[in-house]
Amino acid sequence: MSKQIVLTGITTSGIPHLGNYAGAIRPAIESSLSENVESYFFLADYHSLIKCQDPERVRESSKAIAATWLACGLDPEKVTFYRQSDIPEILELNWVLTCVAAKGLMNRAHAYKAAAAENVEQNSADPDKGVTMGLFSYPVLMAADILAFNAHKVPVGKDQIQHLEMTRDMAARFNHIYGEAFVLPEVVVDESSMILPGLDGRKMSKSYNNTIPLFDTEKKFRKSINKIVTNSLEPGEPKDPDNCTVFTIYSAFANKAEIEAMRLRYKEGIGWGEAKKHVFEYLNDILGDKRQKYNGIMAEPEYIEKVLVAGAEKARAKAAPLLKKVKNLTGISAIK
Ligand code: TRP
Repeated sequence: MSKQIVLTGITTSGIPHLGNYAGAIRPAIESSLSENVESYFFLADYHSLIKCQDPERVRESSKAIAATWLACGLDPEKVTFYRQSDIPEILELNWVLTCVAAKGLMNRAHAYKAAAAENVEQNSADPDKGVTMGLFSYPVLMAADILAFNAHKVPVGKDQIQHLEMTRDMAARFNHIYGEAFVLPEVVVDESSMILPGLDGRKMSKSYNNTIPLFDTEKKFRKSINKIVTNSLEPGEPKDPDNCTVFTIYSAFANKAEIEAMRLRYKEGIGWGEAKKHVFEYLNDILGDKRQKYNGIMAEPEYIEKVLVAGAEKARAKAAPLLKKVKNLTGISAIK
């Protein structure tokens, strides 16, 4: 059987947190180790411009995300790891797809619809106020990312399912008009993969400002864990592990026996201070080596750059022939 191409992108507008690690980074790196897959992981830096117009933040985020994936065990020999903006073929394909993408389809994209609905709610005279063409065309760029490599499987969060449907739509339309060029990619939403709660118990997310950064200093990491909101039960009073952020976060890292042991301690009335101390020590133990590696890599930006440049070369070798075929199918080719 030929290898399955698995591809996913990470928007470079933030610094990785524990939720990103348990929900995306860890499972992606694990799956990349399988012999039957060929993985493409990339920094979606052009995507970041859609929501972030702070150049320093984009730069810092690109560096931190690359260093995080490398520190967490991504093997750049095995995985094609690159930066979207290093692959001109993606933007070229973006235009070709723009010309087969129905505007009506884009009108229905969640991100755009949410922005327009917000304007209506605010009684704005223009429902498109503040909407850039970048935001509106976001699904086309994402389709180009995926189709440029003819990916079979795309692991993403639930919020991205619609983008994959749109990608399939664009791919099918192109194939129908011009002839077979694209694989219709499948979305992979791992239901068992973790959605970690953040400090306040809601989903850990940058937009809620409730994240625990993955590679803060040990001291800051301890502080973050201590800031997790709990109820006011006293030590000695039995506690409910199933509605507890501290316990849920612990469960994303501990093994079955350890989780059961902790469950028992909740029943026995472990104090919040002690529970948090235990969780901090446990996570710190697991993440300590990776943090050290991360700091080492962050101190060596030339290394990160080298890895990404080599990744781009591998990626372009794959994308360029496909783009040529696509252009050829549309009638854009040498004059003969
Ligand atoms: N839009 C994705 C997100 O916000 C990131 C992304 C960009 C992506 N291009 C992609 C994911 C291609 C998968 C495939 O999570």
